[in-house]
Amino acid sequence: MDTRSELQATVKAMVQPGKGLLAADESGPTIAKRFKTIGLESTEENRRAYRNLLLTTPGLGEFVSGVILYQETLGQKADDGTPFPQVAAANGIVPGIKVDLGKVPLALAPGDEITEGLDGLAKRFVDYKRQGARFAKWRAVYNITDSLPSRLAIEANADSLARYAAISQEAGIVPIVEPEVLMDGDHTIERCAEVTEAVLHEVFHALHRHRVVLEHIVLKPSMVLAGSEHQQQSSTAHIAAATVRVLMRTVPSSVPGLVFLSGGQSPEEATANLSAMNRLGALPWNLSFSYGRALQEPPLNAWRGQPGNVKEAQQALLKRARLNGAAALGKYDASMEKD
Ligand code: 13P
Repeated sequence: MDTRSELQATVKAMVQPGKGLLAADESGPTIAKRFKTIGLESTEENRRAYRNLLLTTPGLGEFVSGVILYQETLGQKADDGTPFPQVAAANGIVPGIKVDLGKVPLALAPGDEITEGLDGLAKRFVDYKRQGARFAKWRAVYNITDSLPSRLAIEANADSLARYAAISQEAGIVPIVEPEVLMDGDHTIERCAEVTEAVLHEVFHALHRHRVVLEHIVLKPSMVLAGSEHQQQSSTAHIAAATVRVLMRTVPSSVPGLVFLSGGQSPEEATANLSAMNRLGALPWNLSFSYGRALQEPPLNAWRGQPGNVKEAQQALLKRARLNGAAALGKYDASMEKD
């Protein structure tokens, strides 16, 4: 298959009505932090057992079209010896890989951060592809204060995201472009909207400059929210309207799919906000989820590292996947939490 048809086929499999992505690409330090909340040590075998639980959940493919894996997981095997990418594919779930190497302080720009990982990326893709990855993810992070992010951080991160996306497409890998405006802080929802709009404008300028084909990307944005320390949180309706307004101003309709990150919202909030957006009327793109914490918190708490809890944990994951699948169609209602 030529690269173009390959990208087309992958996007089509990833972006489907009523389905979203499972972000299970926590890096070593991040998964250790998550395991700590259930008092579990982060050993290679515990990480494998946990990803085995997630990926072998019966019926997950009904609501989840793709899974983002960490490099280590891409090379690990399920209990029956099948490599994880094959387990996912057999359940109709496209396997993908987080390829950025994390963030560092942006030099000469106090408080701003930049994501690393471009050097050698084209070569790394050869291996990832051989292991079964069909899409990739790169996360840029923006901190909000009265003066941050700086213009420099907005431009530098946009350029890195676009270079990553170009390298991915050249390798026949669909890039998930993830500019995450963080929830941390006491800023207003209006300030978040202002920053998100500036960030997305710059990202799409850079994608154009780097010749990235917009039909063959998936955008992973953050929702427009007040900071987590702001005295008053906004209503679901306000969040949905503010987020869609910014996206309509900045994201071309040629982008097939947008999948939100949850960013520290509770599972129920993340689901309700997504559903409210999909109820706002016809949107130019498929609007769905690519949640990490909002999908995994309930199963992680049910599991607690105990083999005897696997079934219950899988049911908890399937429940969140099903409710988010409904939200992706604008059909979620809080009363469904009780079913
Ligand atoms: P959260 O949904 O937990 O924010 O994670 C999504 C993700 O992939 C962050 O990079």
